[in-house]
Amino acid sequence: MFSAHLARRAALALALAAAAATTPAAQSRSADASVDQRVAALLAQMTLAEKVGQLTQAGAFPGMDPAGAIRKGAGSVLWLNDPAQFNALQKIAVEETRLKIPVLFALDVIHGYRTIFPVPLAMAASWDPAEYEQAQAVAAREARAAGLHWTFAPMLDVARDARWGRMVEGAGEDPYLGSAMAVAQVRGFQGAALGEPGRLIATAKHFAAYGAADGGRDYDPVYVPENLLRNVYLPPFQAAAKAGVGSFMSAYMDLNDVPATANRFLLHDVLRGEWKFPGFVVSDAFGVANLVTQGAARDGGEAARRALLAGLDVDMGSNTFGQHLAAEVEAGRVPMAAIDQAVRPILAAKVRLGLFEHPYVDAGKLGAVLEDPVHRVRARRAAQRTMVLLRNEAKTLPLKKDVGAIAVIGPVADSKADTEGSWIVFGHQPAAVTVLDGIKAKVGAATKVSYASGPEIRRDIPSMFDQFTPGARKPPQAADAADAAFNEAMATAKAADVVVMVLGESANMSGEAASRASLDLPGRQQALLEAVVALGKPVVLVLINGRPLTIPWAAEHVPAILEAWQPGTEGGHAIADVLFGDVNPGGKLPVTFPRKAAHAPLYYARVTTHQPEGTPRYSPRYWAGAATFRFV
Ligand code: NOJ
Repeated sequence: MFSAHLARRAALALALAAAAATTPAAQSRSADASVDQRVAALLAQMTLAEKVGQLTQAGAFPGMDPAGAIRKGAGSVLWLNDPAQFNALQKIAVEETRLKIPVLFALDVIHGYRTIFPVPLAMAASWDPAEYEQAQAVAAREARAAGLHWTFAPMLDVARDARWGRMVEGAGEDPYLGSAMAVAQVRGFQGAALGEPGRLIATAKHFAAYGAADGGRDYDPVYVPENLLRNVYLPPFQAAAKAGVGSFMSAYMDLNDVPATANRFLLHDVLRGEWKFPGFVVSDAFGVANLVTQGAARDGGEAARRALLAGLDVDMGSNTFGQHLAAEVEAGRVPMAAIDQAVRPILAAKVRLGLFEHPYVDAGKLGAVLEDPVHRVRARRAAQRTMVLLRNEAKTLPLKKDVGAIAVIGPVADSKADTEGSWIVFGHQPAAVTVLDGIKAKVGAATKVSYASGPEIRRDIPSMFDQFTPGARKPPQAADAADAAFNEAMATAKAADVVVMVLGESANMSGEAASRASLDLPGRQQALLEAVVALGKPVVLVLINGRPLTIPWAAEHVPAILEAWQPGTEGGHAIADVLFGDVNPGGKLPVTFPRKAAHAPLYYARVTTHQPEGTPRYSPRYWAGAATFRFV
């Protein structure tokens, strides 16, 4: 695995070098000068309240009032996804406010807008920055046509602990791969320079080292010495800055006891001082108000002051800047120059995006963009490129298209939402081709395809995202219904010539606030897998998941294993393409699969001190069982 890894590194080195050669270091100086002039002219007319407004990002959750916030001067709005609403709100900004400064509409467009691409961890498994750039260009094109200007992606957190749910949103454990994928995504989202038509402002998040949370527990503190920070956690961010990313987002947690939201070392010394980043930094949601919770500020005033003086420009959602910054300036605790410095890059982005000239979105053009068939072609190809063939014994794969009867079994085999995966934009109706759909579409008319879900899988603790998905939190399956589902799955398997087990995690089991203490197949999937394998038929295991799972039994007993991640809209077709041998799966693992959750954090680039790690039978690291294993 590691020599192949080195070869890929060399290929990535070329990709990175090419990126560096053409980075918009950049946008022509004369264009910069004219933007600067317009910004300076505008700034000269602005009152303190209007300036603070630009630093305020209004939330649009139920109960929040984005229209009211815009009337008070809010410079951007998040969590909306409706062109008509965008235009109605923009009208308030450009017709009712004194200086008619348009607002920016921001949303998390992580791996697609309508056409959903494989999750970021999967895209990293492609080891193909060009593929990723194209994917994010499609996401940007669709989202911009819908009226969005700014996405909170790419997530560049190096993640080495598979318990951490947000591993799904990044490029995995390696800083070099992470850097290549960072550059690719910035280019895909933004184009060659900020302001290119059909593109978005990208956000490098979460600055920094969020992936190193203690115990893999989301939002928990991070303790990382500076050498590790600079060698592992910062490089993807530096690559994004160099590639011209428009914005950064600070992380939630404390880094070495200083909240990232008010971390002057990160936001000022490194980002502006060393990397000369010219864009703006937004907090994570409610991060400024959280400074009080984190014990870093006594009250909102101190929180606003500490964050701004550390180098944070935009308060996402908490309105702490809106309530307190002006008073801090009037009391002489925050200099006006610091406010001006924060406002400038935001105005500059609005100028570059052409929003002063074209503030509204033409919703009439949206349909054609969303229906562009090229987008689905790219999504299918991307999914093919991301899948990793972990094992293939006895020529189990490829399957024959004229096989008599195939059983497709598992709780994620026919779930559109789980096929699309974690972090889908608000208001999106899952429309993925499932594995069941893909197999049915692939085989001949003479092949019988039968399906059984087996017992359901579900989170023990509800997801905070359930509130956005009507009907997401159903009552748990009763024990007798689960038994019946198990038996039905067994009967379905018995009646088939070949069994495709589609197991893994549901979409809400990874992502934000989705850390796990066990990485085993959730629910009764392991028992079902063992029972089906015991039938003695050819069995293929397709994994749909957002993080490494602990599958040592499967790695020894299931003849063919395909890691398909959460493959997106075209996922089912792409999986069928691979299963039936029409394409080769293009992926390689970007993360280490531990044997047990107790082995996390685990990653290949460990320095082996004292004794090298032994064979699977003798490991100096654990007296019982090696941490990793080979897929044979
Ligand atoms: C919180 C998440 O940590 C961040 O990644 C996301 O961009 C914001 N919420 C906005 O939705």
